[in-house]
Amino acid sequence: MSASRSILLIIGGGIAAYKCLELIRRLKDRGISSRVILTKAGEQFVTPLSVSALAGERCFTDLFSLTDEADIGHIALSRSTDLLVVAPATADLIAKMATGQANDLATTALLATDKRVLIAPAMNPRMWEHAATRRNMAQLERDGVLVVGPNSGAMAERGENGPGRMAEPMEILAAIEQALSSQVPPRAIGFLGRLPGGSAAAKPLAGKRVLITSGPTHEPIDPVRFIANRSSGKQGHAIAAAAAAAGAQVTLVSGPVTVPDPAGLTTIHVESAREMLAAVEGALPADIAIFAAAVADWRVADAAPEKMKKDGGALPALSLVENPDILATVAALKTGRPAVVVGFAAETEHVVAHAQAKLARKGCDLIVANDVGGTGVMGGESNTVHLVSRDGVETWPTLPKTEVASRLVAHLAGLATP
Ligand code: CTP
Repeated sequence: MSASRSILLIIGGGIAAYKCLELIRRLKDRGISSRVILTKAGEQFVTPLSVSALAGERCFTDLFSLTDEADIGHIALSRSTDLLVVAPATADLIAKMATGQANDLATTALLATDKRVLIAPAMNPRMWEHAATRRNMAQLERDGVLVVGPNSGAMAERGENGPGRMAEPMEILAAIEQALSSQVPPRAIGFLGRLPGGSAAAKPLAGKRVLITSGPTHEPIDPVRFIANRSSGKQGHAIAAAAAAAGAQVTLVSGPVTVPDPAGLTTIHVESAREMLAAVEGALPADIAIFAAAVADWRVADAAPEKMKKDGGALPALSLVENPDILATVAALKTGRPAVVVGFAAETEHVVAHAQAKLARKGCDLIVANDVGGTGVMGGESNTVHLVSRDGVETWPTLPKTEVASRLVAHLAGLATP
């Protein structure tokens, strides 16, 4: 679809600049070529050499005089493209764009362009929330600038947490593809001031309701003891955060975890599998349902109402009954079934084969399968997953759970877009 599409990527001066190298690579995979302007501040974080090696083209820097039009003029540079993308869009670049400054190659290209502009803000949470940045962002929205992110989370600065992390490369890629496929003629922006739907084009899940389960369940034995598993909720919570960043209205049904509730969405806390099922049913309808929770398969048939005591050496016998299968229940709904139902499969052997069997047995549309056998996946920071659907299997490299989350969200946005 996008074989002849190109973007002009403006890399600003922020720690997130390194993510643009991955973005350029991903764009190439999708047949989208990138020309790059690296700002002076951006050069502090990535080098023109690494950028041009990946882009396969010379990288433009502020070292090129604006009056030296021998190679390609800044006007042509800003117009011989389909979309301008600013990443990371620093507080400084955003302020310059909002006030129409043009004192270097990047800002001159931004002012001279007749194409749409997408920005991926990245800055310290205080700077993002500052009244000046709020004003500048409101101005850019009025000007029709598209926005992807920022996400919430830990900052490069020690102890800093909150909104301001640049969107992940796959989220930016999804926003770029969305903007490139939009039917709005680029020139219209100058006249209308705003894309229909505002920044919705950069929010691939805008208007979608997403329901996610995450974490373990605790099945009581007595008031102080329970059956549980090692799930930390990191992967499910990261997916919920990525879906919210992609513009979805998200409900997260979480078992007992220590990770914090993600910002910008509704979290419902439950303990047991039966409570989780009730919360899920209460949160429907949804367009997309993702079942990332490690639900306990069994519960104790008759949990003791009082703490069980050691009783003269006789060992208690726990009799177990099967818990309801939440994923299978939702996937089998005759009315109100979400359009896309995604399950997870935690396996220790024959990962893909078991996932394929699970896909059929549970009636879902996609299984995200991972090998949890002795690899530290449960509770760890990274994950190696296979996407198993009726169309085939896609295997991803080992990635941080946050990156798995943003890739999955980009993938689902593709499935959910009519
Ligand atoms: N699941 C669920 N409700 C259950 C059990 C599992 O919703 N009672 C969901 C999980 O959230 C996950 C998928 O089903 O999306 C697969 O979970 P998994 O534990 O791998 O599979 P099981 O059904 O438990 O199968 P098995 O233990 O035989 O591998």
